[in-house]
Amino acid sequence: MCGIVGGVTERNLTPILLEGLRRLEYRGYDSSGIALISSEGAIERVRSLGKIRQLNDKIERTEHPFQGQIGIAHTRWATHGVPAEQNAHPHICNNRVAVVHNGIIENFADLKEKQIEQGYRFTSETDTEVVAHCLDSELDNANGDLLKAVQATVEHLDGAYALGVIAIDQPDLLVATRCGSPLVIGVGIGEYFIASDVSALLPVTQQFIFLDEGDVASIRRDQLQIFDKDGEPVERSIVTSSLSSHSVELGEHRHYMHKEIFEQPQAVIDTLQGRITDSSVLVSAFGHRAESIFAEIENIQIIACGTSYHAGMVARYWFEDILGLPCSVEVASEFRYRHPVIRNKTLLVTISQSGETADTLAALREAKQQFPGIASLTICNAPESSLTRESNLVFLTHAGPEIGVASTKAFTTQLVALALLMTAIGQVQKRLTEQREKTIVHGLQKLPTLIQNALKHEETIKQIALSFADKTSALFLGRGTMFPIAMEGALKLKEISYIHAEAYPAGELKHGPLALIDEQIPVVAIAPKDELLEKLKSNLQEVKARGGQMIVFEDEGSCVSSDNDNFHVVKATTNVGRITAPITFNIPLQLLSYHVALIKGTDVDQPRNLAKSVTVE
Ligand code: G6P
Repeated sequence: MCGIVGGVTERNLTPILLEGLRRLEYRGYDSSGIALISSEGAIERVRSLGKIRQLNDKIERTEHPFQGQIGIAHTRWATHGVPAEQNAHPHICNNRVAVVHNGIIENFADLKEKQIEQGYRFTSETDTEVVAHCLDSELDNANGDLLKAVQATVEHLDGAYALGVIAIDQPDLLVATRCGSPLVIGVGIGEYFIASDVSALLPVTQQFIFLDEGDVASIRRDQLQIFDKDGEPVERSIVTSSLSSHSVELGEHRHYMHKEIFEQPQAVIDTLQGRITDSSVLVSAFGHRAESIFAEIENIQIIACGTSYHAGMVARYWFEDILGLPCSVEVASEFRYRHPVIRNKTLLVTISQSGETADTLAALREAKQQFPGIASLTICNAPESSLTRESNLVFLTHAGPEIGVASTKAFTTQLVALALLMTAIGQVQKRLTEQREKTIVHGLQKLPTLIQNALKHEETIKQIALSFADKTSALFLGRGTMFPIAMEGALKLKEISYIHAEAYPAGELKHGPLALIDEQIPVVAIAPKDELLEKLKSNLQEVKARGGQMIVFEDEGSCVSSDNDNFHVVKATTNVGRITAPITFNIPLQLLSYHVALIKGTDVDQPRNLAKSVTVE
């Protein structure tokens, strides 16, 4: 995890680095720091525990203006060592070299032992500090040549890293490298920048170079040289980003999460655009090899983490119920280590907002190694991410940048993508009639309006949230595709309001959770009119009989009757279809957790202990 930003420019770099850090805060926010080379040629550093705003305040209070034209900065999500100022990056050795790091150095303990023997003193508990000492030692070996020192240093490192390095030996040079963690170079006019992702640099440039695994970049204000992992000079192309600077700004919203919830109708439109005709799905939207791959497959294996995993769980119902195609879904952190058996002709589908989640990426690599030739497809929101580079087929969700740690619009567009995937495979394998395909496509076209209408219930949901805020536990119930939606609802509540929440398939209530029910535990149920509705209604009676507080989200046809004050029924939508139902019913659950968190006064966009992009195990 963690976020890196850096640059070499003629202007004062400090505000650019601070703005970059703010934009990377979603990657970690327990501490941060900046190191610059001053006009006197010395390394100057400011670090702070807490959010970037605290770093900013500290910088404003420095005795002399904290300014420089070359520097590196970092926002941290603690892995090795508690969140504390002395563990914050940049790490410095001998006032000579400073480094920022994203990733984990797996052999840091061995390196540390040797460095202590060599006489290096450690001032932090981090794995990164070994990199700073190693650079110092390699600078000696290379007579102060920073590029050579970085190239030699990475030879000692096992694990994942993106590094930004400056040293007083060559005060005009920034060296950056990556292996297993993302890093982009922003190309300005007479200036260059580095960052963990493009969003950090959008205020200063839209031109980017994506480094390959093992690349080392030597960056001066007027000169960029890139060397591959063998030290050979290479050219990497410049890509113009279509993202605009203000697409990651808050606008009129109080939180990114709120903004992103309300962007969902547009995110669905953008994700469907160019992927469907009026009556069918364009198979080629999944890549030029999609048709031949889809024709062959007999099973689907979905792998993902967190919210993306819940999207996969919904899709399993679709693949098996609508297409009759076997589909398994597993969290990546389990899949990668349990030596799974994958049947022949399986399509491996990874789902990820960031495309950089360490477990998902490792699971994909593991599967490719165990089953050479396996076809892989990723549904991802980040073009140029590791997952998109390493998969045979890529489908980009066009959700736009998602900044709030709790995923909302990315989830919705993942579901849209999975519905398109299911339909495309059904079309190629003739498991769907033309009429059925047309019905699905028309349903998807109605989604933006359905979501828009569901969003109109915000005021009602705000009122319901009031009765939640003093609770310590909640239960979410659903059946069929509404079970993973209940899981997602419970996860959202946990993540941002810190209320313990569990989801159950409603039919399991009597096998345990019913024992928990009393007036202190609100129960949220999702009740669309489908073939399981009557069974769900019986489950709700079981809760009611035990005095539990019920909140039921239903559609027009469900007719769940509310006959007492403890029983709120919200008609969240009109009648919805098999595919549109889970996507639409998720919206009120997002709003519910948002408003509960708001009442509780938690940090909605950056909840404690979490990070948006989990690039470590
Ligand atoms: C973290 C985020 C979640 C996200 C999960 C998987 O836990 O906080 O919002 O669902 O990682 O991330 P991915 O980028 O792979 O979808």
